[in-house]
Amino acid sequence: MPKLEGKNVLITGASTGIGQAIAIRFAREGANVAINYSRSKEEAENTEVLVNQACMAVRESGCKDLIVQADVSQEDQVSEMFERVIREFGHIDILVNNAGVQRPVASHEMEMEDFDWVVRINLRGAWLCARAAIRHFLQRGAGGVILNNSSVHEIIPKPKYLSYSISKGGMENMTKTLALEYAGRGIRVNAVGPGATITPINRAWAEDPKAKAEVESHIPMGRAATSEEIAAAFAFLASDEASYITGQTLFVDGGLTLYPEFRVAWSSGE
Ligand code: NAI
Repeated sequence: MPKLEGKNVLITGASTGIGQAIAIRFAREGANVAINYSRSKEEAENTEVLVNQACMAVRESGCKDLIVQADVSQEDQVSEMFERVIREFGHIDILVNNAGVQRPVASHEMEMEDFDWVVRINLRGAWLCARAAIRHFLQRGAGGVILNNSSVHEIIPKPKYLSYSISKGGMENMTKTLALEYAGRGIRVNAVGPGATITPINRAWAEDPKAKAEVESHIPMGRAATSEEIAAAFAFLASDEASYITGQTLFVDGGLTLYPEFRVAWSSGE
């Protein structure tokens, strides 16, 4: 039986990469999916077609879906997005904070705009959406689920990606703080921490076989993840199978957070 039958879900940045894979997977689990995008309506419409196909495979009557444009870092746009989804779907059960960006710059050369742009979308945006979802969940009184797309860089420092690392480190704390604050009111808050995953954000290495092999040489399982492997963790955490899990980050990283350099016992001189 589909895990998310009839659940109403809003996924940010859902028109590409991992967000798109989550939208398709959730539709396959019987959910009604609101697809947020910020830039390309065409990408969102392509995602909608795939979401519909996935849903039809499990629900003959089909699912509801919705495309909703909003920049998650803008308070007024986030409010309008939530109002629209709640108006069209009736209510929201699950928010997935997936939208994210990165920009590599040596820390001493980073301009404030480089820093602000990443933190504004990855952390402020996730917080604005979480706040809107929590207000809705509390008003409705039926609980809810918030899932954050974090990263292994929530705990692994990433030189030249300071703003990204900070945003994901902040996301870890936000996940735990909100989980604790609202645990008694039926709201679960968790995160998924993907490792290297083949998506547009990683175009720089994913499309170059040599660069990809170099990246994969650092991963204990020897390969990058597919978006579908990451989406599977979101489907689990969103479902009632995870009904007693809150405040956690589930790393889906092929072993990247296991200190891969310790594969050999170099520190003991063997
Ligand atoms: P992606 O670039 O395909 O996805 C990011 C999405 O966020 C895009 O659809 C983009 O349009 C959207 N977005 C950007 N700014 C936005 C804004 N202001 N408002 C609304 N949407 C906005 O790349 P990917 O890999 O699918 O990234 C998704 C999430 O996964 C990000 O949060 C990223 O940090 C996280 N992640 C990705 C990893 C990877 O290796 N691909 C590893 C760890 C985490």
